[in-house]
Amino acid sequence: MASLSEDSNNPSVTIRPAERADLLAVHRIEQAAFKQPWPYTAFERFLGEQGFLVATRNGGVLGFVVSDVTPNHGRDIGHVKDLAVHPDAQGYGIGRQLLQRALLGMYVDGAAITKLEVRANNEAAKSLYYSEGFSQIRRVPRYYQDGEAALILTVEMDQWARSA
Ligand SMILES: CC(C)(COP(=O)(O)OP(=O)(O)OC[C@H]1O[C@@H](n2cnc3c(N)ncnc32)[C@H](O)[C@@H]1OP(=O)(O)O)[C@@H](O)C(=O)NCCC(=O)NCCS
Repeated sequence: MASLSEDSNNPSVTIRPAERADLLAVHRIEQAAFKQPWPYTAFERFLGEQGFLVATRNGGVLGFVVSDVTPNHGRDIGHVKDLAVHPDAQGYGIGRQLLQRALLGMYVDGAAITKLEVRANNEAAKSLYYSEGFSQIRRVPRYYQDGEAALILTVEMDQWARSA
């Protein structure tokens, strides 16, 4: 992967739609980031979807996000389905950039509300989501295979857009 400089704002990080050539790197990041990683084929299915974005620097993939919008009788629901940054690139603002670009895309696409699931003890992700305006609406015990609970978080997109 591309190396990071000490520049914490990462002005040269590019967020763009994922391409087939990114999939191996995306899958490696997924495997490094999660106990129950998605299979490679899951990412193949999202190729071409506008909510599948990668963060790159100097040609290397540093992170990715997968999101989509589901029609829901005039109150469409956005869903952040997956978000991860390579362990060596975490803490440099890339996760927030990816999340914000995904939220903007879903807002433009008409999402009225966006939801996601996060492990109850994933402090870094929870902190990121709360700081973007998400709040907990539900806790689902034993949601994950290892028995950990999931928190269901949502954000009203109008509110998010006003504060962005
Ligand atoms: C969650 C994740 C995507 C954040 O990406 P990142 O690039 O490291 O995060 P950023 O540098 O953009 O930081 C954004 C915010 O996340 C939170 N955060 C990041 N690292 C943190 C840590 N080690 N401890 C607590 N909060 C942390 C902070 O709120 C931070 O905001 P701040 O810099 O203003 O304090 C990344 O840690 C990751 O890939 N984790 C493994 C996969 C995962 O858990 N994905 C989420 C699934 S729901």
